Amino acid sequence: MRNVTIENVTDVVINSLGENGTITDRNREILTSLVRHMHDFCRDVKLQHDEFLYACDYLARAGQTCDDKRQEFILLGDILGIEVLVDMLTHPVEGTESESTVLGPFYRENPPVLPKGASTVQKHFDDEESVYFEGYVRDANGNGVEGVTMDVWEDAPNGLYENHDPDQPDFNLRGRFLTDENGHYAFRAVRPVPYPIPDNETAGELLRAMGHHPNRPGHMHFILSKDGYRTLVSQVYDSDSDWLDNDSVFAVKESLVGKFNPAGDNLDTDLHIQFDFVLKAAEAAIAAE
Ligand code: BEZ
Ligand code: FE
Repeated sequence: MRNVTIENVTDVVINSLGENGTITDRNREILTSLVRHMHDFCRDVKLQHDEFLYACDYLARAGQTCDDKRQEFILLGDILGIEVLVDMLTHPVEGTESESTVLGPFYRENPPVLPKGASTVQKHFDDEESVYFEGYVRDANGNGVEGVTMDVWEDAPNGLYENHDPDQPDFNLRGRFLTDENGHYAFRAVRPVPYPIPDNETAGELLRAMGHHPNRPGHMHFILSKDGYRTLVSQVYDSDSDWLDNDSVFAVKESLVGKFNPAGDNLDTDLHIQFDFVLKAAEAAIAAE
């Protein structure tokens, strides 16, 4: 095809996709829809060539911002509400299971393995509020699930995750815990504070273009995993935090909001929160029933 037009270019590109067998069905489905939506977008806004070149330069700069500590494309996806949308499409909530939400860019694999009740705090801050975090992990029938691996991570009272703060020890405020024979988990940590997502570089450029602030409400991150259950990536939000209703990455769900109460005399922390999770059986486990 030599003479593409504004009207036919979309079909020309889609028809050019490889013969059956030369590309996967999923790639055909994704690329067909991608081309359609991107062409319609260009026609809709009558995208101009200088704007196209700006976008190419912007993406190149976003790529140059990435290193082993910063994943700019996850951030851009979060600011546009894409990660939360993809998460909901991947993990639709059908029953009583806990809701998932975004992973975000600050997770680190293989955090320190700690016994139940241990503290993730390696460095203290003057204004920190210590917290005893506990609860049960149950299955859909309400039975406690033993041996669930729980990775937890949060920002420090200065609003920074340890891997973005040279003054915090490696893996500060991160840990891996296991539920006990009753499905109970517990750890000591600090109250997570609201923080701005990194808003320099291209993420900041996008936030400013959208007229948005960068702030997120205080939250504790969790990944719960055990063979036979669907891995749950989620967060627990502080009900007293700012930004619950205008999170910069749209990730707050009402069911994930918990209350940090003053701790009783039986605890050695300032605050106490109880938060339970329900895990869904993995598809393979359901099919085998
Ligand atoms: C986070 O919760 O750590 C996060 C999520 C999305 C973007 C930036 C940070
Ligand atoms: Fe976070």
